[in-house]
Amino acid sequence: MITSAEREALDLDAADPLPTRRAEFHVPPHGSGEAAYFAGNSLGLQPKAVRGRLGAELDDWARLGVEGHLEAARPWLPYHELLREPAARLVGARPEEVVVMNSLTVNLHLLMVSFYRPTPRRHAILIEDSAFPSDSYAVRSQAAFHGYDPDEAVIRCKPRPGEAVLRTEDVVDFLRTDGDRVALVLLGAVNYYTGELLDMEAITAAGHEAGAIVGWDLAHAAGNVLLRLHDIGADWAAWCSYKYLNAGPGSLSGAFVHERHLTDRTLPKFAGWWSTQPRTRFEMAPTVTPVDTADSWQLSNPPIFAMTPVLVSLEMFDETGMAPLRAKSMRLTGYLEGQLDQVCERRPCVRVITPRDPGQRGAQLSVWIDGRDVGPLAARLRHEFGVFADVRRPGVIRLAPVPLYSTFHDCWRAATALAAVLDDGGAR
Ligand SMILES: Cc1ncc(COP(=O)(O)O)c(C=O)c1O
Repeated sequence: MITSAEREALDLDAADPLPTRRAEFHVPPHGSGEAAYFAGNSLGLQPKAVRGRLGAELDDWARLGVEGHLEAARPWLPYHELLREPAARLVGARPEEVVVMNSLTVNLHLLMVSFYRPTPRRHAILIEDSAFPSDSYAVRSQAAFHGYDPDEAVIRCKPRPGEAVLRTEDVVDFLRTDGDRVALVLLGAVNYYTGELLDMEAITAAGHEAGAIVGWDLAHAAGNVLLRLHDIGADWAAWCSYKYLNAGPGSLSGAFVHERHLTDRTLPKFAGWWSTQPRTRFEMAPTVTPVDTADSWQLSNPPIFAMTPVLVSLEMFDETGMAPLRAKSMRLTGYLEGQLDQVCERRPCVRVITPRDPGQRGAQLSVWIDGRDVGPLAARLRHEFGVFADVRRPGVIRLAPVPLYSTFHDCWRAATALAAVLDDGGAR
């Protein structure tokens, strides 16, 4: 029997101004129906179009062999060019500032080759205390590579005691008072653990006033929130495409370098044959002829089978538009928040640690659960209720409604299931 709460969720789905594109995705099954998938902040669902589009590339390879570089329906040689404009639209960049290549941590390193230029007086790297471990390892290894002690060089920005998320004003204040030793600020625009969206513009400005370079990890921001990388003047950024961009496990990363750096020939860079001018690439010259776009950070010829799902995804984002998606995302997350508040009300061990202000978060809500092992709770959510959420130690269950395929009904299901698993086994 449908309760009035469930009916309300179904009505919200029917009335929402942005129709869902759920039918265009493979949603994992649960029983005779579909799962409620909240793990798109970890791995987005597969668009059904990907299989056919990959098949077309495989057919071209079978039919054409090496000639596919020029004669494939979408020739492979300039294939990465197809991704440039839609990727730039997604992050608020100019096309020449963006390239899709490699995977995220690789790009963080390649960009730090250019943009982490430590000196004895200014060699600190500022990250969030809850930075994703890969970023933490990457910056520590960069500091060590340049001969600095990572324990001293890497500064971890912490929330105030008793608070779960960072305050922009604290980051800005730190940069005002101690910024003269900071060479690089590298923060996650949306934090993977708390779901907090930082004020990128204010922090970028404060970093620049302090004389630092400001880079952004957009893994949890790309395809999730509205981004204006060019206008806010970020120096560089990188993101992956397997979360909100639905391009498949381990899929490619995007990289952004602000226009003002593109013609700077003094920047140190690693090079490969895809860094050089495409017009003269096959003259096989022993030295690079520089290009004044983000392409000059490329090294290798691009993996077409990895790029195809990214292209499919970017086409979907272009068709729907990031602004309507963000608006729907706010409606879905706001509704989920209300449902979770009802769960928390009667269960003091549970609280949402993500900021309450929709402008300070993306799709994800992080639910802190005291005194319970969150692993088994999430496993029960999935197996008994078909609710895919994930766990991040020490105590968080993350739920991310994704506006391309999640529904209000999914949100209702998640909160109902969470209440059930908390009560069964005794919420402390
Ligand atoms: C914020 C953040 N940075 C970096 C990474 C690492 O990405 P990759 O394995 O593609 O290098 C992840 C992966 O989830 C992430 O969430």
